[in-house]
Amino acid sequence: MRTNVELLDDQHEMLFSLIARLRAGLEMDELDEDEILTVIAELTAYASYHFHSEEKYLEEHGYNHLDLHSDKHREFAEQIEGFTLENMLGTPGLGREMLDYLEKWLITHIKYMDVSACRQVESRQVKKTSEGNGVGNG
Ligand SMILES: [Fe+2]
Ligand SMILES: [Fe+2]
Repeated sequence: MRTNVELLDDQHEMLFSLIARLRAGLEMDELDEDEILTVIAELTAYASYHFHSEEKYLEEHGYNHLDLHSDKHREFAEQIEGFTLENMLGTPGLGREMLDYLEKWLITHIKYMDVSACRQVESRQVKKTSEGNGVGNG
C-alpha cells in the first residue's frame, strides 16, 4: 500500500499512527478527555495538511482526475467533523465504530486512489523523460 512517493507515504503513516493513538485513548480504563480532544484536533489538522500536500503534488505533476480525488478527500474531512467528544464517548462502542470506518476508508483510498494517482503521474514522467531523450517515439 505504498505510493512510492516518500513524502506521501510518510504522511499516510502519520495519519495511521494518529488514528491508533485515538483508538488507544478510547480504550483506556481511565479516559483522558484532554488527550482524546488533543488527538482529534491533531488528526483534523494533519489530515487537512496531508490532503493539501497530496493535491499540490498531483497537480504539479499533471494528474488528470484531481477534482474527483479532492472530493474524496473532502469526504474524509467531513467524517472527522463528526469526531466530537460527545460522539466518541456518548454511546458505548460508537467511537470505536467511527474509527474503524475511518481507518477502512483511508486504507481503501490509499490502495485504490493514491497509489493509482501516483502511478499515473510516474508514467507521465517516464514518458516525458524518454521523449526528451528521443527514445520512445515509435
Ligand atoms: Fe488521496
Ligand atoms: Fe493520501
